[in-house]
Amino acid sequence: MTIHTDIDRSPIDRGTPEKTATQSVTLEIDGMPVTVPAGTSLMRAASLAGIQVPKLCATDSLEPFGSCRLCLVEIAGRKGTPASCTTPAENGMKVSTQTDRLAKLRRGVMELYISDHPLDCLTCAANGDCELQDMAGAVGLREVRYGYDGDNHLGQAKDESNPYFTFDPSKCIVCSRCVRACEEVQGTFALTIDERGFASHVSAGMNEDFLDSECVSCGACVQACPTATLMEKTVIQHGTPERSVITTCAYCGVGCTFEAELQGDRVVRMTPYKDGKANHGHSCVKGRFAWGYATHKERITKPMIRKKITDPWREVSWDEAIGYTASEFKRIQAKYGKGSIGGITSSRCTNEEVYVMQKMIRAAFGNNNVDTCARVCHSPTGYGLKTAFGTSAGTQDFDSVNEADVMLVIGANPTDAHPVFASRMKHRLREGAKLIVIDPRQIDLVRTPHVEASYHLPLKPGTNVAMVNALAYVIATEGLVDEKFVAENCDVTEFNAWRDFVSRPEHSPEATENITGVPAKDVRGAARLYATGGNGAIYYGLGVTEHSQGSTMVLGMANLAMATGNLGRNGVGVNPLRGQNNVQGSCDMGSFPHEYSGYRHVSEEGPRKLFEKDWGVALDPEPGLRIPNMFDSAIDGTFMGLYVQGEDIAQSDPNTHHVTAALSAMECIVVHDLFLNETAAFAHIFLPGASFLEKDGTFTNAERRIGRVRKAIPPMCGMAEWEVTARLSAALGYPMHYNHPSEIMDEIARLTPTFAGVSYAKLDELGSVQWPCTEKAPEGTPIMHIGGFARGKGKFVITEYVPTDERVGPRFPLILTTGRILSQYNVGAQTRRTSNNVWHDEDILEIHPHDAEDRGIREGDRVALVSRAGDTSMRAHISERMQPGVVYTTFHHPESGANVITTDYSDWATNCPEYKVTAVEVRLTNHESRWQEDYAELQKLQRIETVAAE
Ligand code: SF4
Ligand code: SF4
Ligand code: SF4
Ligand code: FES
Repeated sequence: MTIHTDIDRSPIDRGTPEKTATQSVTLEIDGMPVTVPAGTSLMRAASLAGIQVPKLCATDSLEPFGSCRLCLVEIAGRKGTPASCTTPAENGMKVSTQTDRLAKLRRGVMELYISDHPLDCLTCAANGDCELQDMAGAVGLREVRYGYDGDNHLGQAKDESNPYFTFDPSKCIVCSRCVRACEEVQGTFALTIDERGFASHVSAGMNEDFLDSECVSCGACVQACPTATLMEKTVIQHGTPERSVITTCAYCGVGCTFEAELQGDRVVRMTPYKDGKANHGHSCVKGRFAWGYATHKERITKPMIRKKITDPWREVSWDEAIGYTASEFKRIQAKYGKGSIGGITSSRCTNEEVYVMQKMIRAAFGNNNVDTCARVCHSPTGYGLKTAFGTSAGTQDFDSVNEADVMLVIGANPTDAHPVFASRMKHRLREGAKLIVIDPRQIDLVRTPHVEASYHLPLKPGTNVAMVNALAYVIATEGLVDEKFVAENCDVTEFNAWRDFVSRPEHSPEATENITGVPAKDVRGAARLYATGGNGAIYYGLGVTEHSQGSTMVLGMANLAMATGNLGRNGVGVNPLRGQNNVQGSCDMGSFPHEYSGYRHVSEEGPRKLFEKDWGVALDPEPGLRIPNMFDSAIDGTFMGLYVQGEDIAQSDPNTHHVTAALSAMECIVVHDLFLNETAAFAHIFLPGASFLEKDGTFTNAERRIGRVRKAIPPMCGMAEWEVTARLSAALGYPMHYNHPSEIMDEIARLTPTFAGVSYAKLDELGSVQWPCTEKAPEGTPIMHIGGFARGKGKFVITEYVPTDERVGPRFPLILTTGRILSQYNVGAQTRRTSNNVWHDEDILEIHPHDAEDRGIREGDRVALVSRAGDTSMRAHISERMQPGVVYTTFHHPESGANVITTDYSDWATNCPEYKVTAVEVRLTNHESRWQEDYAELQKLQRIETVAAE
């Protein structure tokens, strides 16, 4: 029985996972012939023949366990009644799933379960969505002969400690699906079945509350539980959903597909979608549970304007807001020139919104002053991978990890920042793949249940390029180069020059040991393992890109992969783990000042003419300003108007003092966002945005996968961003005509060769596609550069190590590096407005015990964190995960001001800021910094005046 009405349910649960053997077997089930891959269970074979065998402990996301004895079948010529979930199909078998004997046995099993289960079905939150209830019906259970007088589990207390789900042991049937989900799917091993027989029960950690245990709140156990034992609190509160919409998570670059499940216009649950090609039915705490921000009371739903940033905000109509914005931008251009305004697109917004935004800037503003938040995260990825291979994107799909034999993880912390992919990595590592981690800090992946890195190379921050050259030295000088691959696929002259360069003695692990701080023998061991261990896959993150040599390091990794032949097939590659949900897409859509969509330079006549013809307007052939240039020009008085969509530059960009000076200098700042963020404190116009639940569009994840975002509820502010941008463009004198985002995608496909085959119809048909999606590859391209590189020959580039100008010294003897934590997301605008604060309600400074002791710092002390750029304060956490001399913090809470400390050094090629290396001093303090006091004052002013204006 189900109460879902128009719900588009996940595909049928066939009980056991799909097998992909090349050999098949043919058998007969209930008289029906069925052919399945060898190794397929009888339960799955029956399901494929349209026969659903009753089951409780089996589900097709988990390996079979065979504990509930409900799925018994009879096999001709064999004694007994084997469990169909654990019995493989064999050629010639004749199987019966429905006989009187089986029916009696199943009723007996169900009777025992139900006799120790509360009979509160009608008032239970899972009523209508409970497999135990379904199975009782399926086996025809009509009576329970045993009373409730004997021992039972009915009086057991609920564990409500997790903010998002409850654990009610009185309803548990000890099927162990939750335990197996935590192990097999999530890889956390937080749950066990404790004790034996009647006393056996599910235990989180060492019989702890869920909240105190190792549980990371991914929800896999809740998803797997066939009863109401593990249950989402929102479903308990609001009831089971009536309809669902398939969409894409709006948090990180993994791009998980979800079913947004609703009652009317209220979301009651986000369930990871089993057929989602990036996540295969898995999720993390953010996408699964932390969606409440979308309807948070602090959402701004009306446009607002003010003359000066000290004035109160005044709510206005959309017409007035758009008219005022256009008149301000026109006024500024008339006074300061065409190039005096610009805009910043958002990697949180859809591809269509980003495309329309950059089109408005190029066509209506009449300049190329468009940049994006990828500037401060993965711009070196675009530059480096395009230079080496010809395409500004990662080389593989996520599924490729299943065939990796060695994973080289550099400057990434997947268990916190890309949790669903981290679970895939851990799964493969438990199967026997090897792991090398290059990171200053001992990230969780270095040692986690049943996973241990073969090498952790804890290098000093800022020495990545010295490290990659040392790895290359070993490969080049120990005969580990894949000569055939290089000869066939790469420019051999450039390769020879590179080989000569890296073979120089100063690049040896022994010579670089005093630069990187990593013992030479470990570097040699890691290089040999990567080069000779089978398929070698590089995964990297912002610990690579956010350096003054970020682009050099991307090129260095590309060199390593080419030299060892680790490209162009499954299990290998150079794979950026992208930060935001649509950072790949925002780059693809032409958000950089020098490139149109598809990474075509604005100075190239061919592409420019194409856009000029299609858009009917003359376009500027000169690249525009990057974000840091916009700030500098604002301070110089030549850049006076900025439209910021979905990015909080006042919090996320480095050297806050410089950023706020630039923002304060401008005459018109427009913030288009869900909340009054930190940048809005400097804004004159606030345009309310729509959350991912409120609009149609697409996101492109880290594996170039274009997935649909579907409108589940109407926009609270009345308009999605693409509509607002189109109206503003019209007010500026350049009308755009779109009735639906699908028409924008049609235009993108028309003008962008790598998107030529993309359409909403295709996305609806296939679920998602990975670009390039062209006539030659109509269903997309999971693996790039098969049989040759997109640019022709792979390009080796010399990667000279140049130490950063940011040096430690007597005043600032420690290096600060920054990163993320699982429960919070980037500037925290979304996650801070959810119960995720239970796990991380402030940013903390991690410091090594020696450094703490030298400074008299104890656990939890407030410390001042000072750099040449500024100072702030936060509490200290003493941790051996740090190496001496290096401290670490996150940047999720604006009041901690992590970016007050960071400097404006940046990558030589792309200006990506050097967030990962700042020389600092740490000392005890008992008060907040001056900046923090000023910040609190500004916030008070902002909020009171906002309330006063309502
Ligand atoms: S929520 Fe995830 S991590 Fe926590 S117990 Fe369940 S499966 Fe394990
Ligand atoms: S909590 Fe749910 S999944 Fe876990 S053993 Fe109990 S009934 Fe099975
Ligand atoms: S891994 Fe990323 S995309 Fe997937 S649910 Fe978590 S935050 Fe969302
Ligand atoms: S479903 Fe097969 S034994 Fe439980």
